[in-house]
Formats: sequence, C-alpha cells, structure tokens
Amino acid sequence: FRRHQSTATPTPSDIPVLGKSYPTDSHTNITPTIISKLSQRLHAKEGHPISTLRGLIESHFPDYAHLSSVSPLVTPYENFDSLSFPADHPGRSKTDSYYVNKDLMLRTHTSAHEVGTFRGGKSRWLLTADVYRRDEIDASHYPVFHQMEGAKIFGTDDASVKEVEADSKRLEHELAISNIVIEDVPHITQANPAQASHDPRHAEITAKNLKLSLNSLMYRLFADVAGATKEEPLQVRWIEAYFPFTSPSYEVEVFFRGKWLEILGCGVVLQSTLDRAEVADKMGWAFGLGLERIAMILYSIPDIRLFWSQDPRFLSQFTPGKISTFKSYSKYPASYRDVSFWQPDGGLHDNDVYDLIRDVVGDLAEDVAIVDKFTHPKTKRDSMTFRVNYRSMDKSLVNEDVNELQNRVISRLKEQLGVEIR
Ligand code: DAH
Repeated sequence: FRRHQSTATPTPSDIPVLGKSYPTDSHTNITPTIISKLSQRLHAKEGHPISTLRGLIESHFPDYAHLSSVSPLVTPYENFDSLSFPADHPGRSKTDSYYVNKDLMLRTHTSAHEVGTFRGGKSRWLLTADVYRRDEIDASHYPVFHQMEGAKIFGTDDASVKEVEADSKRLEHELAISNIVIEDVPHITQANPAQASHDPRHAEITAKNLKLSLNSLMYRLFADVAGATKEEPLQVRWIEAYFPFTSPSYEVEVFFRGKWLEILGCGVVLQSTLDRAEVADKMGWAFGLGLERIAMILYSIPDIRLFWSQDPRFLSQFTPGKISTFKSYSKYPASYRDVSFWQPDGGLHDNDVYDLIRDVVGDLAEDVAIVDKFTHPKTKRDSMTFRVNYRSMDKSLVNEDVNELQNRVISRLKEQLGVEIR
C-alpha cells in the first residue's frame, strides 16, 4: 500500500508565486492570503477607485512615463540597499516584510524601482504598484496597499537647469491664481541639508521645482476634483522629514474636512541612488504617495478592506475616471423570497406593489424585482412574480424573520390590491 509521490507535485520546500516556483528557506513568511493578492492589480482594474485615482494623477503629469505593471517580487537589494537603507533597518526584518526567501521579497514601497527605472533611461516617470507590509489590523491598515512613485531628473548643465526654472515659473503662475495657502519650510536647513556633491544653487532649484509640482498636484486633487474649497482656500503644509534615500526630505500634509492629513513623502534623490542607476551626471527629485489614503478621503470610503471587496455593489457604483461619494451598503446576507399572483380585474401598477412592500417591511426590503410576467393563453389573466431581497443594514435576518415579513406582504397584497396568489 505504498503511495507513489507524483514527480509533478512541488516539494514542500518550493512555493509557487505568480506562476513560478521558488525555493523556501528560513526567511520564507509569505502566506496564502498574501499570495492571493499578488494577481489582483486593483490599480489597473477599470473603474476601481485606486485605478481612477492613478489615472487622475497621471493626467496631471502628461509628459511623464506612466508605469503600472512591474512585478511585486524584488530583491532586498532593490528594496533597501539600492536606496542606502542601513544594514540594521527594521524594515528588513521578517517581522515587518514578506519574504519568498532570503533573496526575494515583496516590495514594501515603490521606491524599490527607482534605480531600475532611472537605469532604464526614464527621466520623468510615475510608477504605480501594490506594496506589502506586515502590519496591525484596523480600518486604515491592510497588508497590501498601493503607492505611486514619481520622479524627475535632469542634467546639471545650464540649459537643463534653465528648463527646470522655466517649469517652476509656469507652476508659480498657475498657483498664484489658485485658491491655495501653503505653509512652507526653507528648502534647505542644517537639519535638512543639501548633499555635499550638489551645487547648493542646484539643490535649491530642485527642491523648489519639487514643491511646486506637488503643490499643483494637491490643488488638482483636493480643490479641483474633490471640490474642497469653494470659499475656503486649500491648505497645504510642508514639513521637514528624513528618508534614507533623499536629502533634503519633506512630508506634505493637506487640511481637508477639518483634519491635517499626511499625504506623501518626497525629497531630492540621493546621488548614490543615481550613481547606481548609472545616471551620475543628473540630479532630481522623487515622491511616494499612498493611493488608498487619498482614495478613502476623496471617495469617502470608510474602511480599507472595501477596496478588496468582490461584492458587485462596490465596483458597480463607480464610473471610470470619475470621483464620486461612496454609498455604503449592508454587509449582512441577502434573503430572497418570490411571490406570484394573478392581477385583479382592471390590472395593477408595479408601483402599487412597491409602495405596499415599503409600507409593510420598511427598509428591510433592499430591492424588489419583477422576475416573471405572462398572460394565461386561455383565461387571459395576467400573472406577475416579484422577488423581494430582504436585508437589514444592521443585523443578519434569520429565516423565521424573513418568512414572517413575506407572509405579511402576501396578506396585504390580497387584502389591499385584491390579487390572487398562485
Ligand atoms: N518610499 C517612502 C515610503 O514608502 C515614501 C517616499 C519618501 C518616496 C520619499 C520617495 C521619497 O520617493 O523621495 O514611505
């Protein structure tokens, strides 16, 4: 009774990820739940809020390369070392990041693609992708979320620098006629210094172009699109920050619906990153923003898990390319009941039935559909079948509840409308 092991079965020490098999080791901590997210690509799903937001930001940077199909599997070198993260950075640990094995991990941020994208010859680009972090569980944290990385690099020759200054002038004029108030910090301070290898004047020009580019984006998203500010100006606040791969570095916050919201991190790209990408003669800026946070605000989506919902009531309420207000729906199960009857003499309007059902069961009827209509060939009597979906907004209805509701509907149909139940 010996069982023969099929040679096609992967050994327990191999793990399939995105259609390929990888050896596991003591670093392996990727779970089936996480593996199931890898192929979802919400940022490319037509009409999904994450995808619409991506498109919106892309349209604000029309002459940038728009990248959105880069594999989530990266090396720890790409995710950390290429960005000058120290060897003992906590993000590297198995408790914070997902590893396929010690040499391959799920990117924890889109910055993991900076060196590769610069090396590939792109000098102005946006890259959108799913990123993975082991984290706590609550309404605003999820182990998978989406980031957009944006970057612009340019030569340090006079002509190139002049072009950046001209772009800044254009943005300054645009912002001067916008209803925006910006709380700024100096481009460069002792605590947030320019890099030693940079001409301080170039560092100033780069930081200024970064700030103007992002102020303009914030205005587009929160004032133009979300219509936040009819009379009130949009308030944007710049804060000195620290990232291992930028200097100077900043964070941007936006005042929206009564709260300061942290929107993104950014800075002047560390020259060592550009050296690794073999574009040592250039300099520039980069930013990284979290799309869920912004989408939750713009769409009024209350819980990050909703982005992953397979319920058609989620995706179907959005129009591709348009920001709209999320309408919540019940998270409790649906219960369907049909009622078929012969219409009374003189007929009956559908709306009479709808109103009767509303009267009897109130909001417990989530929707009512006519699923059948026919005329008896001999008697010429008209028959209709209504299907009622009973669902509460705040509890699970048990069968007895639903039967009771349906019986009340049927009694009233007979009494009030004079139908004959079939
Ligand atoms: N990668 C950072 C994060 O995930 C965000 C970030 C900060 C991106 C600064 C950048 C940057 O490009 O320059 O928190």
